[in-house]
Amino acid sequence: MLDSRPPLLQLQDITKSFGGVTALRGVDFTLRPGEIHGLVGENGAGKSTLMKIIAGVHTGFSGRFLLDGREVHFNSARDARAAGIAMVHQELSVAPDLTVAENVFLGNQPTNALGLVQWRRMAREAAEQLKRLGIDADPMSRLGDLPIGVQQLIEIARVLFSGARIIILDEPTSALSPPEVERLFAALRRLREQGTGIIFISHFIEDILLISDEVTVFRNGRKIMETRAADTSKAALIEAMIGKGRDALEDSYTHDITLPAPPVDKPIVVEADGLSLARNLKSVSFSVHAGEVLGVYGFMGCGQLELARILFGKLAPDAGELRVSGERNRFKSTADARRAGIAFVPESRRDMLFLQEPVYKNVSISILDRINALLLKPARERTLAQRQVEQLQIRPADVEIELGLLSGGNQQKVALAKWLSHPPRLLVLCEPTRGMDVGAKSDVIQIVRQLRDQGIAVIVLSTEPETVLSLADRVIVLKRGEVVREFAGETISKDRLLEAA
Ligand SMILES: Nc1ncnc2c1ncn2[C@@H]1O[C@H](COP(=O)(O)OP(=O)(O)O)[C@@H](O)[C@H]1O
Ligand SMILES: [Mg+2]
Repeated sequence: MLDSRPPLLQLQDITKSFGGVTALRGVDFTLRPGEIHGLVGENGAGKSTLMKIIAGVHTGFSGRFLLDGREVHFNSARDARAAGIAMVHQELSVAPDLTVAENVFLGNQPTNALGLVQWRRMAREAAEQLKRLGIDADPMSRLGDLPIGVQQLIEIARVLFSGARIIILDEPTSALSPPEVERLFAALRRLREQGTGIIFISHFIEDILLISDEVTVFRNGRKIMETRAADTSKAALIEAMIGKGRDALEDSYTHDITLPAPPVDKPIVVEADGLSLARNLKSVSFSVHAGEVLGVYGFMGCGQLELARILFGKLAPDAGELRVSGERNRFKSTADARRAGIAFVPESRRDMLFLQEPVYKNVSISILDRINALLLKPARERTLAQRQVEQLQIRPADVEIELGLLSGGNQQKVALAKWLSHPPRLLVLCEPTRGMDVGAKSDVIQIVRQLRDQGIAVIVLSTEPETVLSLADRVIVLKRGEVVREFAGETISKDRLLEAA
C-alpha cells in the first residue's frame, strides 16, 4: 500500500566535499510517506552531511534531489522549511534566552489578524504539545534554565509539531531517559500514521531496530547497506558499520585486544561508590588502581562529561561518594580536587593551557602551583622543558614558540608533559586523542602509558572505541548514566564495545 504513492524524497548519486574531504560519495537515498527510516554509521560516516543537504543547510553538492518526484534546488534552510522539511540538529539549536513557549514556536508564532503574536494562545498550545511528549515545563520559563535533556525534548517538540511532512532527527535521544525515548517513539508513530516521512539517526542500534521500518548503513561517505528493519539484527548492522577487515586504516582496532589481569596487588587510588547526579548518572561505582588505566566508554550523552566533572570537583554528586586513597572526599571546588592529587585534561585543551605563553612555561608550570612556579629560575625552567620537548617529540622542538601556534596533537602532548614532572595521583583525560593524526595519536598513547607506569592511576573517558581500545587496561561501559558492563582481563574488540553500549 505504501509503495503505491511516489516517494516523498529521492536523492540520487549525491557527492559532497568539504575542501579536500569527501563527505559523501554517490549516495542514493529514498524516503516514502509513512516511513520511519533509521540511519546508522560511525562518527564521520556522512550521516549529518546528507541530512543537512536535505534540510537546505548545505547547498553545494552534485547529484539530483527530488521531492514528490520533482527535482528541487534549495538555496537555504528556509527553502527546505517552506517545502515541509524540518530537522532536529545534532547540536542543540535552541534559543536559551527565550521562553519555552517561544522556543516551541520559533519562527512559527501564532498571530492574529493584525499580525500580532498571540502570546496567551502560544503558551497554552506550547504546554499542550509538551504534555504530549510528557514534558511538564512552564511555558513562560526561560529555556536556558532547564536541564539539557528537557531543552533537547523542547527542540524535538518544535520540529515534531511544526506540521512538516519530512522530519529529520539527528541523534536526538543521546540525552534522553528511557521513558522519554518511549514517549518520543509514540509521537513518531502517530506522525507515521499521518503519512509523515521520518529519518531517525541514532547510535543506539536497539532503538533503530525498534522504531524503523527501513534501515540504511553509512560508512566512509558511502551507503553500504539498506534493509527492512525486520530483516536485520544488531550484530549485522554493527558489522556493516565497521566493515570488518575491509578498511586497511581501521584494521588495527578491528582485531581483538586482550586486557591485562587487574593489578589487585597495587593500591586502589580512587573509588567511586554509587555516584548519582540528577538525570545524568545512576549509582555509578568503580575503582582504579595505581598504575592502571580505566577506560570509560559510552555514546555522547551517556554521562561521561558529568562523571569527569564530579571527579574534578566541578560538579557535586546528589548521592554517593568518592574516596581518594581511602579517604572520603566531597570536593567543593576544583581546587579541592587538585589538592587531593587529581589532575584533569579536558577535551578542549584551551581551558587548561596558556596558549599565548611560550611552550616552556606550559611544560614547566603545573597549574597546580602556577604561583610557586613563578619562583622557578627561568634558565632551569627552559632546560627542563627542552628535555621534555625532545623526549616527547613535540614539534617544532622549540620551547620559546607560542603554544597556540602548535597543532592540536602537539598541544595535547604539552598538556600531558606537565604531569610527567608533577605526577598527580589520578589523571582524568577526556577524549585525549580526538582529531589527531596517527603520529600524534601514538605519541599521546606513549605518554599516557609512561604516566601509568610511574604508578599514576588514569581514567580515560571517550566516545571513540579506538581511543578506549588503544589506552585502557580495564573498561567500563556507561549507558544512559549507568554502568552496564565491565571488561577486565578478557579479550575485547570494537564490536564488543559497540554491542555493550
Ligand atoms: N562543515 C564541515 N566542514 C568540513 N568538513 C566537514 C564538515 N561537516 C562534516 N565534515 C566532514 O565530513 C565527514 C562526514 O561528517 P558527518 O556528516 O558529520 O558524519 P556523521 O554525522 O556520520 O558523524 C567527516 O569527515 C567530517 O569531518
Ligand atoms: Mg553526525
